[in-house]
Amino acid sequence: MSNEPTIEDYYFEDRKFPPSDEFRAAAVAGDRSLFEEAEADRLGFWARQARELLTWYRDFDTVLEWELPYAKWFVEGQLNVSYNCLDRHVESGKGDKIAYYWEGEPGDTRTITYGDLLSEVSKFANVLKGLGVERGDRIAIYMPMIPELPVAMLACARIGAIHSVVFGGFSPDSLIDRINDAEAKIVITSDGGYRRGAPSGLKVNCDVALGSTPSVTAQVVVKRTDQDVEWVEGRDHWYHDLMAEASDDCPPEHMNAEDLLYLLYTSGTTAKPKGIMHTTGGYLTQVAFTHRTIFDLRPDEDIYWCAADIGWVTGHSYIVYGPLTNGCTSVMYEGTPDTPARDRLWDIVERYKVTQLYTAPTAIRTFMKWGTMEPAAHDLSTLRVLGTVGEPINPEAWMWYHEHIGGESCPIVDTWWQTETGGHMITPLPGETVTKPGSATFAIPGVNIEVVDDAGNKIERGGGYLTITDPWPSMLRGIWGDPERYMETYWSEYPGRYFAGDGAKLDEDGYIWLLGRVDDVMNVSGHRISTAEVESALVDHPAVAEAAVVGATDDTTGQAIVGYVILRGTAEAGDHLREEIRQHVSKKLGPIARPRTVVLVPDLPKTRSGKIMRRLLRDVAEGRVLGDTTTLADESVVDEIRSRARDSPQED
Ligand code: PRX
Repeated sequence: MSNEPTIEDYYFEDRKFPPSDEFRAAAVAGDRSLFEEAEADRLGFWARQARELLTWYRDFDTVLEWELPYAKWFVEGQLNVSYNCLDRHVESGKGDKIAYYWEGEPGDTRTITYGDLLSEVSKFANVLKGLGVERGDRIAIYMPMIPELPVAMLACARIGAIHSVVFGGFSPDSLIDRINDAEAKIVITSDGGYRRGAPSGLKVNCDVALGSTPSVTAQVVVKRTDQDVEWVEGRDHWYHDLMAEASDDCPPEHMNAEDLLYLLYTSGTTAKPKGIMHTTGGYLTQVAFTHRTIFDLRPDEDIYWCAADIGWVTGHSYIVYGPLTNGCTSVMYEGTPDTPARDRLWDIVERYKVTQLYTAPTAIRTFMKWGTMEPAAHDLSTLRVLGTVGEPINPEAWMWYHEHIGGESCPIVDTWWQTETGGHMITPLPGETVTKPGSATFAIPGVNIEVVDDAGNKIERGGGYLTITDPWPSMLRGIWGDPERYMETYWSEYPGRYFAGDGAKLDEDGYIWLLGRVDDVMNVSGHRISTAEVESALVDHPAVAEAAVVGATDDTTGQAIVGYVILRGTAEAGDHLREEIRQHVSKKLGPIARPRTVVLVPDLPKTRSGKIMRRLLRDVAEGRVLGDTTTLADESVVDEIRSRARDSPQED
C-alpha cells in the first residue's frame, strides 16, 4: 500500500431520506430488531439465518471456528446449493413459478420456471459426470448472459464440482491464466453472444486458449448465435447433443458447509489475478439473507432485476445464488443498455413490471448523460427499491436515480462489498435506514466494520481505512493455491483485522462514506483492474521499454486508465503507435482494460531509489497542481510529461 494522501475531503451532503411510513410498515426489516438481535448474539443471529433461509441435510453443531485468517462456518453441517436453489421450491409446489424472464439482446425471450431449471440442471449435471467430472474438480465457464450460464453453475454445485466463471470480455490470455491456475478439467462456453447488435465470438477465444491449457479434457459449446466455429473432434461437444441424451435424474451431492462452491478471479496489486475461494453454507446464508433483507424481497410478488453480468461477483450472488435460494422471479438480460435504443432498460422495467433494480453508478452516470427523456417515456411505477454497487456513487448521480428512476419514492440501497466478501457488508436497510446521497451508511446486522488510521487505531470520525473486525459467513476462505498471499493481502496490514483496500470516512452521524481504493487497484466502471496487470500488458508490446499506469478520475467510468509509456530507442512515436499499444492491451487483457489514454514519455518520475511516483502521474492525468516533488530524482521530467499528456488524445 502506498502512503500517499488518498483520503478526500468530506462530501458536504446533508440531505436525508427516511423510508416512508408505508414502506417501513410493510418492510422485511422495518425497525432495528435485526441489529439488536445481532448485537446481543452475533453467532446466534447468523445461525438463525442459516437454519431459516436454507435447507440442510444435516444440521451444524458449531456456528464458527475462527483461527485467523481461516474461518469455518456451520461446521459439520451438510447441504447442497442446487437443492436449495431448485429442488426444494419444486417440492413445495412451486415448480411452475418463473425463475427467470430471460431476454436476449435481439429481442428473443425465454420464460424459465423452477421446474424447467431443475430438469435442465439435473441433465447437465449428468452430462458433466459423463465427461468424467468428479466432486472437487474445477470447471471453467466462459459464457454470455444466457440461461445456460446459471444452468452450468448450478450443475457444478449439484455434483460438488467447483466452477470458475470467467467474464466473457476477457481475452484468451486472461482465460489461459485462469484455467491454468485452477487446473480446470472442462471448459463450458458458447459460440458467442449478442452485444451491441452483433454476435460476438467466445468459442474462438477458448480455442486459442485451449492450445495452452493442458488440464482441459473437453469443451462444451452452447449454440447461441449460430456463427461458424472451428471444431476439434473428440474435444468439442455441442451442449444440445449431450443434453439430448442425458437423464434428468441426478440426486444432489451432500456437501459439507465448508466445501468449495466456486473460484472467482479478481485483480490484486500484482499482475497475477487472485482466485478468490467461496464455500457453501456460509456463503449461501449471507447471500440469501442480504438478498431478502436489502432488496426487501416479497418472493411471491416481486420481479427482481440485477442488471450486472454473471461473470462478476454481483451476478454470482445476486442474479444466481441469492434470488434462486429465495425462490423469487428475476429478469435476466443478455445485452447492452443502448441496443437497439437508449431506453432498453426502462422498456424492460415497464414490460416485466420490475420491482427492484440493481445496477452500477457508472451505468447511472451514463443514463444521466443520455438525459431524462428515455426513462420519462416509460412507466417505472412498479419499482420499489433501487440498488447500486461497484464503486462510490456521487450524490448527483444518487439524486438523479432517486428522482428520474425511483419517482422520489424508492429507497436506494448503496451496497458496499467485494468479490472477497461474497455478499453485502455495508448498505442501508431500505425500510429502516435514513439514507444520505452518496453514503453506503452502516454495516449490516451481524457484520462489524471499523475505520482505522495509519497506525491501525479505530477512529470515530473522519477519514481512514476500512477494516472488518470479525469473520462473516460469506467471507473468502483464501486465495486458490496461495495461502501466503491471502494472509499478506488481507490480514497483515492491520493485525487482527481484514483490510479491504478501501478508504472510508465516518461523518458526525457515524455514516460510512466510501472513498475508493487506496492500493494500486483501479476501479473502471465498477470493475477492478490492477495497474500492474496493465503495465505488464503494455511492456509486452515490442515497442515499449517501460510503462506506468494510473487510474484518473473520470466523469462516467469513475476511473479511467492512463498509461505512461517509454518507447524503445528504435520505435517511432506517433498516434498510430499509440493506438496500436492501446489495442495490444485490449488483446492481452480484454477491452475493459484498454487505456483511455496512452502518453508517450521520455522518462518516468522516479525517486532516487528508482520507485515510480504514481501520485505525480495521477496529478498530471487529472490536470492538478503537482504535489510534493522534492523526492524526485529529476524534477524536469514531470514538466515534459505534462506537456506530452496535453498533446495525447483521450479515447472512448
Ligand atoms: O473499492 C470498492 C468498490 O469495489 C471494490 C470491490 O470490487 P469487486 O471485488 O470487483 O466487487 C464489485 C462488486 C461487489 C471495493 O473494494 N465498491 C464496491 N461497491 C462499492 C464500492 N465502493 C463504494 N461504494 C460501493 N457501494
